[in-house]
Amino acid sequence: MPRSIPTLCGSIMGTPFSFNVKVHNAAYRALGLDYTFVCFGVEDVPGAIQAIRTLGIRGMNVSMPHKQAVIPHLDALDDTARAIGAVNTINHVDGRLTGYNTDCIGAVRAIEEATRLDGQRIALLGAGGAARAIAYGARQAGAQVTVFNRTAARGEQLARDFGLRFGGALSDFEASAFDGVVNATAAGFRAPDVNPIAGRLAPHLFVMDAAFIPVRSRLIRDAADLGCRTIDGTRMMLHQFCGQIELYTGQPAPLDAMAAALLDEIARQS
Ligand SMILES: NC(=O)c1ccc[n+]([C@@H]2O[C@H](COP(=O)([O-])OP(=O)(O)OC[C@H]3O[C@@H](n4cnc5c(N)ncnc54)[C@H](OP(=O)(O)O)[C@@H]3O)[C@@H](O)[C@H]2O)c1
Repeated sequence: MPRSIPTLCGSIMGTPFSFNVKVHNAAYRALGLDYTFVCFGVEDVPGAIQAIRTLGIRGMNVSMPHKQAVIPHLDALDDTARAIGAVNTINHVDGRLTGYNTDCIGAVRAIEEATRLDGQRIALLGAGGAARAIAYGARQAGAQVTVFNRTAARGEQLARDFGLRFGGALSDFEASAFDGVVNATAAGFRAPDVNPIAGRLAPHLFVMDAAFIPVRSRLIRDAADLGCRTIDGTRMMLHQFCGQIELYTGQPAPLDAMAAALLDEIARQS
């Protein structure tokens, strides 16, 4: 397998963004590893995958819009990525490219920082890529997941794919039927005044928002004001980065150094 000095990791996506770069490089520094991480904005997915092989790139994160398109070009998929149908991480070992989905691991670890998942009744808002990863992870961890989505057909499809219940539109959500609510809609992302279920929270709920800008979304602030346990989107993002660091380095991820780098970068961009 080709090798570089330093060891190169990176990400491919439509338009490059900096969070991957800042957090991964902070992790490598904290671990004392001679690794460097670069973000590539690319359109040519087969060409980018061939570059991983040709240049010996050790690990490649995959972001929108390439999470499905990379799949036919890989040598193997882990079970979670196969079930979700999306890859956000390519681990390159001995010339073999294996696709993983650490969004799923990230969501489960983030929720489990605040509460157990087994037996919990969770309302999942949204039916896009993030919702799909969260739905699969929460179900595997033993939660009873009900999907709510603005577009019914998409919500019903997600529920069917994973054997979940479809609860209807976001306006059909009733707090009394659930132990927790996870927002995986894009409502609230870079929209600090938007809470997609405003006025319908209750203090017994745990509340997670996948949206990570602002760090404390309107949903999270409203939930905290009521006394709910809250989990912001940076925790999901950090834990999915941790899954990648563990795959690319074989070492436990330095969570605190990574969290500081992520929060610094969000503050810099805000
Ligand atoms: N923290 C993390 O690690 C992490 C990782 C990935 C994504 N995210 C965040 O998760 C969110 C969803 O991302 P995604 O990749 O799943 O996007 P996506 O595939 O485009 O799905 C978007 C979802 O949001 C819904 N939606 C969009 N605007 C809405 C609105 N104004 N009101 C109600 N529903 C709305 C869509 O409903 P329809 O089906 O009706 O269009 C769909 O369910 C984003 O905020 C993203 O930043 C966070």
